[in-house]
Amino acid sequence: MTEITLTLNINGRDVTRAAPAHYSLLRWLRDAASVFDVKYGCGEGVCGTCTVLVDGAAASSCIVLAAQVAGKNVTTLVGLGVDGELGPIQEAFVDHGASQCGFCTPGMVLAAHELLSSGEALDRAQIRHAIQGNLCRCTGYQAIVEAIVSLVPETAGSDS
Ligand code: FES
Repeated sequence: MTEITLTLNINGRDVTRAAPAHYSLLRWLRDAASVFDVKYGCGEGVCGTCTVLVDGAAASSCIVLAAQVAGKNVTTLVGLGVDGELGPIQEAFVDHGASQCGFCTPGMVLAAHELLSSGEALDRAQIRHAIQGNLCRCTGYQAIVEAIVSLVPETAGSDS
């Protein structure tokens, strides 16, 4: 098995590890770098729970080779915390009961972060569209959408 040594910046810290060349980013993070807040879900890029941000853009880490993102900045759920505490999006999810079993939560929070980082006003339809690649089997999505809405002061419209 061919191994390659890669350096990724994970949540602001350079991490260098040798791992099999075929490792997905998800597997590299979990098995080589011991980053366990990234979750394995479907393994096919469908459920969204393995979402991470690569240079600020959401990506399904199970279908991205680690070698493809060598040298890039990878942000996981933990990376959205502030001084070891929950960040604003994480707080909003808690406040709105937007996490139940937690399966979808890392991907949802990271997708929300990408969406909100534009700074644009958003309506609920836009929020639902943005998180459609993240499957939640518990909340029915309403609480998740409301948590994200709470972070958009100028949310347009009152559609539900
Ligand atoms: Fe359980 Fe979303 S909180 S899948």
